[in-house]
Order: sequence, then C-alpha cells, then structure tokens
Amino acid sequence: MNKPKARIVVLISGSGSNLQAMIDCQQANALSGEIVAVISNRPAVKGLERADAAGIEALCLDHKGFADREAFDQALQAKIDEYQPDLVVLAGFMRILTPAFTEHYLGRMINIHPSLLPKHQGLNTHQRAIDAGDAQHGATVHFVTAELDGGPAIVQVAVDIEADDTPESLAKKVQYQEHYMFPIAVQWFCEGRLRLHKENKNHVSLFDGEPLPISGRLIKAR
Ligand code: GRF
Repeated sequence: MNKPKARIVVLISGSGSNLQAMIDCQQANALSGEIVAVISNRPAVKGLERADAAGIEALCLDHKGFADREAFDQALQAKIDEYQPDLVVLAGFMRILTPAFTEHYLGRMINIHPSLLPKHQGLNTHQRAIDAGDAQHGATVHFVTAELDGGPAIVQVAVDIEADDTPESLAKKVQYQEHYMFPIAVQWFCEGRLRLHKENKNHVSLFDGEPLPISGRLIKAR
C-alpha cells in the first residue's frame, strides 16, 4: 500500500516565490507531500494568488487584528491545526514566533533564511554579507526552534559574492538557489529522512539517522 502523502501547511508574508517553487514540484509529481493550505499574515499578497491559482486553500490571518503576539500565534496555531499538518513550512513568513508556538511544532516546522547560518541571523542579510566582506553568501533551511534563525541547519547553498554585487543582485542570486534548495529539503522531510533530535540541551538535525554538521548538508549551487 502507498504511504499517505505528508500534509504540508505553508506560511507566507509576501511574494511567495519559494512557495511557487514547491507548487511547481508538487505539480511535477516531484513532491511526496501535498500542500494543503497556505496562510499569510498579510492580506492580498502575491503568494496567496499563487496558491489560489494552484487550487490550494489560501487564507489570510492578519496579525494586525490581534491584541498581541501571543493572541495571534494562538489563533494561527488553531488555524494550522485544522489542516492536521505533518510539516509546517515558513516560506518568507516575516514574524517572530512565540516559544509556545515553536514548541508546539518542534521537529515539524522548517524555515528558509537568506544567509549561510550561523552567519547573519535576522534581517538585511545581503547588505550585511557585503559589508562584512564575506567571500560567499547563501541560504539555509533549518528546523525552527525558539531561537530566531537559530535552529539546527538542514541544508545550505552558497554563492560567490562578486566585487560589483549589490544587495539586490545578491538577493536575486540567492533566491534563485533557494527555489532549488527548499523543495529538496521539503522532499527529504516528506520521505522521512529528516529528524530533529535533542542531545543534552542542544538540538541537532538528523539525516538518515546521522547528525548533520552545523551548516547542514551543503548542496552545490545549480
Ligand atoms: C526569501 O528570500 C527567504 O529566504 C526569506 O524571505 C524570502 C521570501 O521570499 N525568509 P518569497 O516570499 O518566497 O518570494
């Protein structure tokens, strides 16, 4: 008997180009999971249109309608759980999450961050990589823990920073790789190859049962 497909809920805040990369894989039958819902915290964003066009349930839960972060996260959690997801994917979801929320999805929530973590956690990563004189920049997919952009890495892709790169040109190069890398990580999860493991007080990502290094698996830029 075929294993049931992993149920995936994707959270977005904007353009959703990474979401689109996953939708494309799903439509090409290259994903052993199914995106069952897309939720945005901002109304009328392009990512919601993309989900809608693909026939995926698309909804907005506007954080502005809630008294505080806790109230929003509780409502978001209740909404997500209606879909009984195996995996929650943060694809450009621009919110700081409460510890109760990250704890609830621990080991089944992943994020993509535009830097070679642990370098450049937080915002404006492209500018910061240039300012730091880094030779390389990139993106990382990681499990989400209570620490912002601090959960253990799963996979990473690097690009060279050229002398004439601007934050915009670098963002473009990195995003091109993100669209390739993110669905790979999602697919690994759906195939049951990824797990979050707690060792003493630290979390580590396991790939096929083996601990991954701090940067996760490194894949070659396409
Ligand atoms: C991506 O660059 C991702 O690394 C960051 O937010 C951006 C989202 O872009 N977390 P998109 O909405 O997928 O186009």
